[in-house]
Amino acid sequence: MKKIVEDLNWRYAVKQYDANKKLSTEQLDIIKESLRLTPSAYGIQPLKFIFVSSPALREEIKEIAHNQGQVVDASHLLIICSHKSIDESYLDNHVNLVTGIRNTPPERAAGFSEFLKNNILKMPDSDVEPWNVRQAYIALGQLLHTCASIRVDATPMEGFNAKKLDELLGLEEKNLKSVLLCPIGFRSTEDNYQHLTKVRKTNEQLFETI
Ligand SMILES: Cc1cc2nc3c(=O)[nH]c(=O)nc-3n(C[C@H](O)[C@H](O)[C@H](O)COP(=O)(O)O)c2cc1C
Repeated sequence: MKKIVEDLNWRYAVKQYDANKKLSTEQLDIIKESLRLTPSAYGIQPLKFIFVSSPALREEIKEIAHNQGQVVDASHLLIICSHKSIDESYLDNHVNLVTGIRNTPPERAAGFSEFLKNNILKMPDSDVEPWNVRQAYIALGQLLHTCASIRVDATPMEGFNAKKLDELLGLEEKNLKSVLLCPIGFRSTEDNYQHLTKVRKTNEQLFETI
């Protein structure tokens, strides 16, 4: 308990990264595993995690992210994307994944497939896209905590032009949309934000028992 609260107080939304400090392979592997283990509704993981390695591309992304320096200075730049829609073949692949891993008998697999399709394919397209977007925020929350627990910094970012980013990366053709940017790396000693006291509502304001 104490360790979790310490981790959460250690983290803050870094404004200035130390461009010379890079993540180790081990740190990156932990971060990827945390993203992979993110829960999602029905377990269908309608997400894609894109790491942008090209410095030139990161410069272009910075321009459509209100010139926020973290985009280029952090060790890594992650884009959390969600799927724009879900079709029958996507669900078939998911059923195959689950039944393959769990060795499900065929009759149960058929029932599972029908259950998924009945629930998900019936949803209007206009509901599916925002539903998938919400799953991206679950990944973000888990990522922020994971990073803090290994003393790696991360900045959640909605401050970018998602339409322009999707065009730049050709995401729509891949049935994807960008939801969040997340620079990941190490805070600069010059980032004054690290010295600010956290601002949160009090327990009395936030919690209610009924
Ligand atoms: C969804 C989301 C979007 C955010 N977008 C940005 C952003 O574009 N740029 C930025 O510097 N901080 C961004 N922030 C950071 C918040 O301003 C910050 O988390 C909040 O003020 C609380 O401070 P703390 O994270 O340092 O405790 C974002 C945070 C969240 C959760």
